[in-house]
Amino acid sequence: MASLTIRKLDEGVKTYLRLRSAMNRRSVEEEVRVILRELIEGREEPLTPFEPSAPTPSPQRTSALAEASVTLIIGGGIAAYKSLDLIRRLKERRIEVRCVLTKAAQQFVTPLAVSALSHERVYTDLFDPQSEFDAGHIRLARDCDLIIVAPATADLMAKMANGHADDLASAILLAANRKILLAPAMNPLMWGNAATRRNVAQLTRDGVTFIGPNSGEMAEAGEAGTGRMSEAIEIAAAAERLLRPPVPRPLVGKRVLITAGPTHEPIDPVRYIANRSSGKQGFAIAAAAQAAGAEVILVSGPVDLDDPAGVTVRHVESARHMLEQVEAALPVDIAIFAAAVADWRVANAGEQKLKKTSAGMPPLQLVENPDILTTISKMKDKRPPLVIGFAAETEHLIDNAKAKLKRKGCDWIVANDVSPATGVMGGDRNTVHLLSKNSGKDGDIAVDSWPVMTKEQVATELIAHVARSLADKPLEPAT
Ligand code: CTP
Repeated sequence: MASLTIRKLDEGVKTYLRLRSAMNRRSVEEEVRVILRELIEGREEPLTPFEPSAPTPSPQRTSALAEASVTLIIGGGIAAYKSLDLIRRLKERRIEVRCVLTKAAQQFVTPLAVSALSHERVYTDLFDPQSEFDAGHIRLARDCDLIIVAPATADLMAKMANGHADDLASAILLAANRKILLAPAMNPLMWGNAATRRNVAQLTRDGVTFIGPNSGEMAEAGEAGTGRMSEAIEIAAAAERLLRPPVPRPLVGKRVLITAGPTHEPIDPVRYIANRSSGKQGFAIAAAAQAAGAEVILVSGPVDLDDPAGVTVRHVESARHMLEQVEAALPVDIAIFAAAVADWRVANAGEQKLKKTSAGMPPLQLVENPDILTTISKMKDKRPPLVIGFAAETEHLIDNAKAKLKRKGCDWIVANDVSPATGVMGGDRNTVHLLSKNSGKDGDIAVDSWPVMTKEQVATELIAHVARSLADKPLEPAT
């Protein structure tokens, strides 16, 4: 079996796959296998080898813009008129709609109106030679991403719950291997009837999703209660949730502070001391935290990168300026210090450009910069509940990183080898080890070594790790 190579996915899908795989502690490739396995196991028909000459038809899109397609079964009830609006609501969400009208539905809406709105032929008959020649009910059941029944009458639900297939709508529902969304509509007494309750319970066990019914006045004069079909806009939103499940956002409600990039320490107005940090790792962490739903403040030294979307970015030059902005961002729930902060600055930085003189080279006096990570880790009042540092080392990686973790007082350290041969500085890949306090066998520090990954993958994995640790041990909220 060929290995999986997944390219040309849009960013949303990639982010979803990265987060989902990191949360489940699987590689992206393994996660895709799981998704495919789930999809295949969810099929009702047996798996048979594909004939090359007869490929399984995928949902056919008649519009190049459509992203999903729905088979909408309109049952017979006064609420059928709302289905005309539903067609419009689905189409404005770029969902293609093919409609099936039961015999009773045609008493309330005409195939002509439905066809005009859906821009598609409307299906009404199980024994329509034109469509059954092509196994029409099977195609309507499977040639779509979702089946909606609106209004779902008590009778249609009873047929579904009991596996009847004596008309086109029930035959489609019995042949379906797609998700089904029901929008019930009926008189409150019918909805409350023990038979309907049994059918609803059975259909729920069968994996059918319900939207509504709502409570309110009924079409019948003087009747009120639960039984009104949900509004078209509610049904369309429920369909969208089923068709496009949201990306997991485990950090919603959390405030995350990240430092990134190098700092520039002036020698004079035109010269500075710097290092080779590109800021890519810190920026990737900011993007991953934002994708996970966090409110993110990124304090960045000078870099050649675009600000990540949806992130508040504070641009700074020097270590002291970075510390100011970090302190201004507090309180936060999680602080991640990925910046390669210059350890020293020039004490006697010139106000004017230093000139070459016959007196020789200007003496540069260095003084130590504040250690931002240590300052924040050792704060009494505003220390973030989870503080993560980085350890950029060129030798004795793990030993130096362990010493740094203890010295700086943070909770975790991400250690990476930044020797020139690794190409980490400025490159796109990183090999890291996550060291965490108080939970490991190795002394009191656990070391988790990750395989070589892109910086985006490291970022996603780190954020997933943060999310898992919050799930295991919720943080005290930042105050
Ligand atoms: N750090 C910081 N402020 C500094 C120096 C470092 O916040 N003035 C943070 C970095 O962002 C990183 C961690 O401390 O999270 C370790 O940085 P690193 O450069 O690896 O270590 P140093 O403290 O500079 O120690 P050394 O240069 O001796 O390895």
